[in-house]
Amino acid sequence: MRVPLVVGNWKMNLTLSTSFQLLDEICQSSDQFRGVDVVVCPPFPYLLAANLTIEGTKIGLGAQDVASREGGAYTGQVSAAMLADCGCGYVIVGHSERRRDAAETDALVAQKVEAALSQGLIPIVCVGESSEARTSGKTFEVIGRQLSAMASHLTADVVLAYEPIWAIGTGQTATPEMAEAVHAFIRKQVATTAGENVAEHIRIVYGGSVTAQTAGALFAAPHVDGGLVGGASLKASEFIQIILAAM
Ligand code: PGA
Repeated sequence: MRVPLVVGNWKMNLTLSTSFQLLDEICQSSDQFRGVDVVVCPPFPYLLAANLTIEGTKIGLGAQDVASREGGAYTGQVSAAMLADCGCGYVIVGHSERRRDAAETDALVAQKVEAALSQGLIPIVCVGESSEARTSGKTFEVIGRQLSAMASHLTADVVLAYEPIWAIGTGQTATPEMAEAVHAFIRKQVATTAGENVAEHIRIVYGGSVTAQTAGALFAAPHVDGGLVGGASLKASEFIQIILAAM
């Protein structure tokens, strides 16, 4: 009932030419992608050209961040309207690298979610615990707090991404059992806050060292609706295998 979603988060990688090689290869395989939504998130300067490349394919376009404000004197920031104008349908919000490097708070993340929704963008909102939080048994507490900050924006138009910080870029993928336990907790929280109907329809994807090898078992978990893929989305053949694993 929930269409699985696989998102490639390119982060600050690739060049203009290597990114288009990668995108071309993904597009060439896109006829095979059935019953799965596929989105790539290139860096800002490549969005407009990427949008031309994916035209006529089933690949969707997303950005990696969005400003919380509508517009004005905010040097270096990019508004939700600008992203929509460039062809984006999605935007990653509150990635742990932004929470860490740009000191994004739960409150700012909620404002960004609101900004994205106001322009018809689907926010992919990242939540997840540090290794210290996990070791001290605080995983659910941390994620519960991150979710409650955006409680008023929890609708079926939002995508949630469970990204344990200790799993991102480390090769230490969460086991399917670990992911399933947290995804089930998140869905329960959504049910409590936004109702059973939203909880049933909202997509919760897993991110953190997803590879072609680990994707199948992770995506088979009942509450895991796809993946947010970093490193493994930079190689066309591996990303395509991950997409096929979600079908
Ligand atoms: P990774 O990154 O797949 O390289 O661990 C995932 C992410 O940060 O979105």
